[in-house]
This record gives sequence, C-alpha cells and structure tokens, in this order.
Amino acid sequence: MPDSPEKLLSQWENTDSLFVPDQLPLRLEILDRLEVLDQPEVSDQSAGPGQLDARFPESGPAIVSARARRLRARLEAANVELYASIRSSIRQGSVPAAFARQLEPTPIQPGGLHYDYLDELVAGVFAFDQPGEARAPAGPENVFYQPTPARHIFSLIRQAGIAARDVLLDLGSGLGHVPLLVSASTSARAIGVEFEPAYVASARSCAQKLNLDRVSFLLEDARDADLSIATVFYLYTPFTGSILRTVLYRLRAQANLRAQAEQKVKAAPRPIRICTFGPCTITVAQQRWLVPDTSPAEDRITVFRARS
Ligand SMILES: C[S@@+](CC[C@H](N)C(=O)[O-])C[C@H]1O[C@@H](n2cnc3c(N)ncnc32)[C@H](O)[C@@H]1O
Repeated sequence: MPDSPEKLLSQWENTDSLFVPDQLPLRLEILDRLEVLDQPEVSDQSAGPGQLDARFPESGPAIVSARARRLRARLEAANVELYASIRSSIRQGSVPAAFARQLEPTPIQPGGLHYDYLDELVAGVFAFDQPGEARAPAGPENVFYQPTPARHIFSLIRQAGIAARDVLLDLGSGLGHVPLLVSASTSARAIGVEFEPAYVASARSCAQKLNLDRVSFLLEDARDADLSIATVFYLYTPFTGSILRTVLYRLRAQANLRAQAEQKVKAAPRPIRICTFGPCTITVAQQRWLVPDTSPAEDRITVFRARS
C-alpha cells in the first residue's frame, strides 16, 4: 500500500539531509510530488475540501495542502541558496564544485535528448533574462532555438578535452548555455555566434552579471563568422541544407589552412575539433575529411577531427 500523504510529508519534513546543497536531484523530485499534494482534492479523497479528518487531527486536505506548501517553500529556498553560492564562486573566478564534479573522468557517455536536474541547476545559476520577441528572419534551413541538455555540455568539455589553450566557438549559440558553461567550468575562451538579437542580448547580460570575461557573444550569421579564432567548434544542429554545407566547407578550409601553416613553420600541431549534437551529426559524419572519436550518434556528443 502506498504511504499516506501525511506520512510522506512527515518523512520529508524531518529529513535534514534533504536541505543540504548536494541533494538538488532529490529536492526536485520531491518538489514535483508536492505539487500534486498541494491540491486538497488529491491529498484526501475521504474528507470534503477544507475539512479535517476527525481520526487524524494532523490530516485533512487543507492541513496537508498547507504543510505541502510550507515544505515546498523550504525546499525552494535551499535551491535558491545553492544557485546563489554557485553564482558567487563563478563571480570570484573559481570553478564551482557542482560543475567540477561533472567534469571528472567517467567511462559513461550520457545519451538521450531529454532534460534532467542539471538543466534546472544551470537555469537556476544562469537565471537568464527572458529574451524579447525573436526578430531574425528564420528560413526553412534555420533550426529554432533549443538548448543542449547540460549533461551533454559537460560531456563536450570532457570528450573534446577543452583546456586553457582552447577557444570554443558555438555556431548558433541561442541563449548561450554552451559558451557560458564552458567559460564557468574551464580556463578556455568561449564565443557564441547567433543571428537572433534577443538571444545575444540575454546571453551577454548573463555573462556580465557573472563577471565572466572569457566569454563573448557575436550577433551575426554563422556563415559570416571568423572561424580562424577557434580551436573547437560546436554545432547543435543550428541549420541544415545549404547553410550547413557552406559552414562545413568553411570549416574544412580552416583545417587545411592550419595544416599548411603547420607544414611551413613546423609549428606544434593545433588541430581543430568539430563537435556535434542532434541530427546534424549524421551529415557531419558523411564528410570524408573528418574522423569521429566515437561512433556518431544524434543523442550524444560526437567529436570529429580532420583526417591527417
Ligand atoms: C538548436 S539551437 C542551439 C542553441 C545552442 N547552440 C545550444 O546548444 O544550447 C540553434 C540556434 O541556432 C541559431 N541559428 C540558426 N541559424 C543560424 C545562422 N545562420 N547563424 C547564426 N545562428 C543561427 C538559432 O537562432 C538557434 O538559437
């Protein structure tokens, strides 16, 4: 038999560990369940709305509902405290422990297109301004905005081995999740290129509020972006068809230019990496000048390098 709402509430109210910062995933799960309890008609079917159950003075829909609301407020306050402490670490220039944990080596490469608690964490920390109405003329080859799930951004940093010497360029950066998270989690520079002014404004405002000075956002079409500044390129299927072909053509020229320059001056190799997520992975995998590090899949990060 499932536990009664009263029993569940008592259990949660008295579990002090639930309120420590690391317990965000559990808090979010309980917050979801509390949403259901905070509705008198769901919390007790036997008594009428607002009535106390005479057998249990601590029960009754109104009481359960009020307790659920109080507990929600406590859990939400714990989340807000966690986000504020992470923001404070970022402002001071250190990598927050919650991000560093995600960057530890792991043999598991996360999959799936869904979002999870890490996206709540990132949304809470970055507290994006709601972008104004979209103005950029979106054609059939321009893909609408959708952020990369946060676990894949951490996976991108790990798999591509993004380090201080790197410059990451996110082609079609939306609200800036990828450059912002790279900048807050590594010593690399990160740049977002996005053709929608409202998204660029929101990303810039977030970077400024967090004192992130190694990240910048350029308002331009990805076809016109200066590719010579980056070592790692990221594409979460921002465009398809002829736009994707044009950008891949320009990326190939970039890889060749670097190869030629390296041959002339015998400089240490500084190969570019092209990282993808979503359906564009399949198109990129068909480029014969590129070799993937792992078997290409749409729901995982794939890192490609130019064939030597
Ligand atoms: C699927 S979203 C990816 C957002 C971001 N890279 C991320 O992973 O969180 C694609 C983004 O590309 C932008 N976009 C589409 N075509 C573009 C173009 N030609 N130049 C620049 N940005 C473009 C869209 O406005 C949208 O924000």
